[in-house]
Amino acid sequence: MPQSRTRTVVVLAAGEGKRMKSALPKVLHPLLGRTLVGHVLAAAAPAAADRTLVVVGHGADQVAAHLAEVAPDAVPVLQAEQRGTGHAVRIAVEAISDAEGTVVVLNGDVPLLRPETVTALVEAHETAGAAATVLAAEVADPRGLGRIVRDARGGLEQIVEERDATAEQRAIREINAGIYAFDARLLRGALGKLSTDNDQGEEYLTDVFGLLSAAGEAVAVHVAADATETLGCNDRVELAALRRLLRDRVNADWMRAGVSILDPETTWIDVTVRLERDALVDQNTQLRGSSVVAGGATVGPDVTLIDTMVGAGATVLRAHAVQAEIGPEASVGPYAYLRPKSRLARKAKVGTFVETKNAAVGEGSKVPHLSYVGDATIGEQSNIGAATVFVNYDGVAKHHTTIGSHARTGADNMFVAPVTVGDGAYTAAGSVIIKDVPPGALGVARGEQRNIDGWVERRRPGTAAAEAASRASAGAGAPVAGEGEGLHVVGGAGERDSTSGDTAIE
Ligand code: UD1
Ligand code: CA
Repeated sequence: MPQSRTRTVVVLAAGEGKRMKSALPKVLHPLLGRTLVGHVLAAAAPAAADRTLVVVGHGADQVAAHLAEVAPDAVPVLQAEQRGTGHAVRIAVEAISDAEGTVVVLNGDVPLLRPETVTALVEAHETAGAAATVLAAEVADPRGLGRIVRDARGGLEQIVEERDATAEQRAIREINAGIYAFDARLLRGALGKLSTDNDQGEEYLTDVFGLLSAAGEAVAVHVAADATETLGCNDRVELAALRRLLRDRVNADWMRAGVSILDPETTWIDVTVRLERDALVDQNTQLRGSSVVAGGATVGPDVTLIDTMVGAGATVLRAHAVQAEIGPEASVGPYAYLRPKSRLARKAKVGTFVETKNAAVGEGSKVPHLSYVGDATIGEQSNIGAATVFVNYDGVAKHHTTIGSHARTGADNMFVAPVTVGDGAYTAAGSVIIKDVPPGALGVARGEQRNIDGWVERRRPGTAAAEAASRASAGAGAPVAGEGEGLHVVGGAGERDSTSGDTAIE
């Protein structure tokens, strides 16, 4: 496309969007990874060679703050009072009085617009040397939209708003999508001549077409190949409909790119997410933000990933992850919650009812069951016993726990941070580890067990338990202990070879 001309993009985003009934300005409502205006800016980006202006009004501060985040090069222009689309463009054009070349104007509420469509519109406009070109679409239900009125030779005569249209014009199903390309100089001239003589008493941008055509300038219509791209959004019902359409489009694109999506209707992938070939997404899954799923990984069913990386061949099942890194061939879930800065190395496992936060789980290491791992580093090939808590918070500050490589920690441990368990160390089940465990040592930190023989038959006589105990002791031929006798202690972990049974359940 010839880039010799100057191009200015103007996005109209000052309207309130009354029918959204929202404290949030309409253009800031989110839709699969971007706001409405964010989608429009992304669609315009390839065509926007030189500068982008966004007309803001309702919620101007909020919209400007959002622009600073997602499109820092876009310049907000304030339209303090919303006196119509023509008025909005007039204010923008006044802010760039030197503008020449092409001005591309886009309504801020057409989020399904594709970049190729904007580029094609601008190309057609520039190639034809037109004064103004409007993007049109043939739709089944044109209600509420401006109609394209063509002359006898099929050229554009005018664009008429529905409320100002005759019955005959209302029957037209070719509508104005609210996307235009203008010759900057001719646009500026026409904007100065807009009247407010219409049903809303506003300056209509669309009247520029009638004015230019009456002055003998060439005005053109560019018809969108896919009418769904031109759908606007006025209330939350329409927003939900747009979300479903965008979901289907995104899913179809990924499936054509080699990703398996088992249930596209329950799979919601933000436009900002990346997936590789042979990734598999199972049903009821949401992939959001900057998430990436590598090839051969399986994600779902019932997974939400936000800004999370999933490595090649990993499995993530019924899990919620935020800003986490899941390494290649790692396994997560079912029922896991990975919070920010959870980093699972290759073949690591975070299993069932496990929560992690700011935790590195080394290669091949496992946290299989019922645990909280916060502020921790776990080395390679270590196993954390079931029902373990990394006790990271003393009520004032967070502290770190380090577990070495090839360590096996017992079930139901508390690691009271800051604490370190060395390489190859073991800890006994039920331990509250408050002191470092040196490499290769067994850490035991629990009360010793004592059994009081015959207690149930003496203290709970006549119960089913007492009867069962009586039958068991009769069967075993064991003597019934006398009153006050039979207190003895079963060996502690140090005496009994019980630690392998302690450290893990499979
Ligand atoms: C406009 C078009 C209509 C077209 C439709 C497509 C006009 C007169 N009509 O109608 O032909 O079919 O879009 O969706 O242009 N805005 C401002 N400042 C204003 C008024 C509007 O910034 O003073 C912005 C809004 O935030 C919105 C866009 O312009 O992003 C369109 O405004 P809206 O009121 O929705 O125009 P429609 O009546 O839908
Ligand atoms: Ca509208």
